[in-house]
Amino acid sequence: MKKYLITSPIYYPSDKLHIGHTYCTVATDAMARYKRMQGYDVMFLTGTDEHGQKIEQKAKEAGVTPQQFVDQVVAGIKDLWQLMNISNDRFIRTTDDYHVAAIQKIFRQLHDQGDIYKSVYKGKYCTPCEAFWTETQLVDGKCPDCGREVQDAEEEAYFFRLSKYADRILKLYEDQPDFLEPASRMNEMVNNFLKPGLEDLCVSRTSFSWGVPVDFDPGHVVYVWVDALSNYITALGYQNDKYNDFDRYWPADVHFVGKEITRFHSIIWPAMLMALDLPLPKKVFGHGWLLLEGGKMSKSKGNVVDPVILADRYGVDALRYFLLREFPFGSDGTFSNEALISRINSDLANDLGNLLSRTVAMVQKYFDGTLPDTQQSAPIDAELVSMASGLRDRYETQMEKFAFQNALMEVFSVISRANKYIDETTPWILAKSEEDKPRLACVLYNLLEVLRITTGLLIPFIPVSCETAWKQIGVTKELTLWDTLATFGVLPRAISVTKGDTLFPRIDMKAELEALEQARAAKEAPAVPALPPITIDDFAKVDMTVCKVLSCEGVPKSKKLLKFQLDCGEGAPRQILSGIAQFYQPDELVGKTLVACTNLPPRKMMGIESNGMILSAEKDGKLTVLMLNDAIPAGAKLC
Ligand code: MSP
Repeated sequence: MKKYLITSPIYYPSDKLHIGHTYCTVATDAMARYKRMQGYDVMFLTGTDEHGQKIEQKAKEAGVTPQQFVDQVVAGIKDLWQLMNISNDRFIRTTDDYHVAAIQKIFRQLHDQGDIYKSVYKGKYCTPCEAFWTETQLVDGKCPDCGREVQDAEEEAYFFRLSKYADRILKLYEDQPDFLEPASRMNEMVNNFLKPGLEDLCVSRTSFSWGVPVDFDPGHVVYVWVDALSNYITALGYQNDKYNDFDRYWPADVHFVGKEITRFHSIIWPAMLMALDLPLPKKVFGHGWLLLEGGKMSKSKGNVVDPVILADRYGVDALRYFLLREFPFGSDGTFSNEALISRINSDLANDLGNLLSRTVAMVQKYFDGTLPDTQQSAPIDAELVSMASGLRDRYETQMEKFAFQNALMEVFSVISRANKYIDETTPWILAKSEEDKPRLACVLYNLLEVLRITTGLLIPFIPVSCETAWKQIGVTKELTLWDTLATFGVLPRAISVTKGDTLFPRIDMKAELEALEQARAAKEAPAVPALPPITIDDFAKVDMTVCKVLSCEGVPKSKKLLKFQLDCGEGAPRQILSGIAQFYQPDELVGKTLVACTNLPPRKMMGIESNGMILSAEKDGKLTVLMLNDAIPAGAKLC
């Protein structure tokens, strides 16, 4: 059996995933399902890329260990893929033991053979933040975190001899011009990176610890991209005993990746594989981004679209279909709810849904649900029959180019043609005369055949709906096998249909847009935390102290923080930072009586120490400081 290895990127579990991430995985899934349909033995890999400073930082902010942090987000990612009907064969987590051990072996091998060497990483250092920065990470030449001056600094680090592989990569592009697609991405790699010359790549860090430790040099962790890219081979069993599929599946047939990570996949990854003396992937496809008006979706900009809300409202298939039909895969596209709803209404409810419901209803009405054997064709059938018979090959041509949009347009042009055929053949008039019954049966048979072929080809995109449609038109799985989809007339003549639910109900655009807005707002509203019950002893551990504000001022370069000196009845003032600057002027708080938690460990924010937390109430993102009766003395404890 021919094999096919396809991969999606492995996702950073730093936040919940949005519709942009979903786009890439749905595309990979559609391709994997299509290849399975063609009879390939498919391995579809996905997973999570869990190391690095960003995750370490996020875990710290959440007050949990990095492992606890990723475990929680990864569970949500797995749920999302299940919801979206993603048919991955394997899910790798880069924190999996077998992967970590394999990365250590890979790193050691590259080091032992001289492809990785120790040198000095020169950069800028922010002493209060204890952070290393590169020139390009600085903001106006200063620390991007606290805005202070940085110093020239050096740290020991390991480097990968990327420069050594530049010529071989250029040669790879020349010999295999379709290695990286779309072609524009290859030009970008050549002109922006390869021609100006590749520098060796720093592949270890000492400034944080959440990574794969370099086992022969404590204190160093492996650069997250070396760790992440290797997932494609460790998940198959390279340098580990957990799996044994490397020889069978490697090299990958295609890596699907977003355009911003194309460079890692088309320069660094081939160079790593060359160094390991392993075959290169056959292709890297750098797809475009889903944008929202105003640019790329990002959590920090607050403009992310939640796939769960959309899937809940319209169904997973409608969302999958929209993502792959609306936007050309290689280019950027702008997401909007209007576009989504009109696409569902026009293609799925009107064209496909109507064709199915009208056809089934007519077979029920005119033939009690079962067509007779005797059927009579007519010249007017020829165009529809020929369009439907050639559809599989036209679709295949597009799918092989990852042109999902075009493949779907091919399918829907046949569906539209079939709807027109109903108007041309006027079955309701044929039904009036007994003599025309064989002709009527043939018309309905042709429509059922079109439905068989089109839903057969739509399986990679809308799998659940296709199976629902098959039940209605009496089609079994064997009648939708790849070979049968290129032949018209496969259904038995005396086929029986069963009426079922509407596949895709029509959506009222105006009402829906309003409802969506409300759903989004409700979802973003902070959920009432479902915390587990605690004991009175747990409660007693929190030291909540009444305090008077002695002084309050803003923190330079911070939009959020106010710095308080508080009288907590301790003799000396206590300094606490609080993220309420958007809601209060410092002066209005001086003299007020507040509550602070005073037994939290000291913590630095923007390089300034904070010794506790002022209690505020939060609703819809607005913070209101808890203010007490001024008669309560400083140092009183809440109990
Ligand atoms: N962890 C790396 C990938 C390592 S692969 C060895 C990573 N993770 S990510 O979670 O940030 O992004 C995963 C994928 O989602 C990337 O391919 C990225 O391009 C894609 N997308 C993120 N936002 C997107 C859009 N708005 N639109 C389309 N794809 C987007 O990068």
